[in-house]
Amino acid sequence: MNFLIINGPNLNLLGVREKSIYGELSFETYFEELKKIYGKINLEYYQSNVEGELINEIHRVGFDYDGIILNAGAYTHTSVALGDAIAAVNTPVIEVHISNVHKREPFRSKTMIGKDCLGTIAGFGLNSYRLGIEALLSHLDKR
Ligand code: DQA
Repeated sequence: MNFLIINGPNLNLLGVREKSIYGELSFETYFEELKKIYGKINLEYYQSNVEGELINEIHRVGFDYDGIILNAGAYTHTSVALGDAIAAVNTPVIEVHISNVHKREPFRSKTMIGKDCLGTIAGFGLNSYRLGIEALLSHLDKR
């Protein structure tokens, strides 16, 4: 089973950035924990601050991999192109957010990608990614 976690803009600064919202841990550290929990899954990680690179990555894996866990950061709220990329591929995509976007500024409640994703998980800190993996696993079991 091949899963890819994709992080969008500013998520390279987890552990440094707005710690009261996003926590103290870097994604690299959390990713090592995830790989230990899901030893049997080939779990990969990609991060970019560039919209087109995120789209290229979705295209690269979107016909072969079993699942994508995507935190598109602020592009969630603005990017028609990312939504189109998700709609274009076959691999199921779970939208995740570390923070509860519905409890924050109103513009964060709007998602341009949610309608093309299997589902959305938000508000559980870095555990949102683990819950995203669980959601994919339960979805794939049902097929
Ligand atoms: C985020 C929420 C977005 O609104 C924000 O722009 C981010 C991170 C989250 O994980 O909570 O960069 O996607």
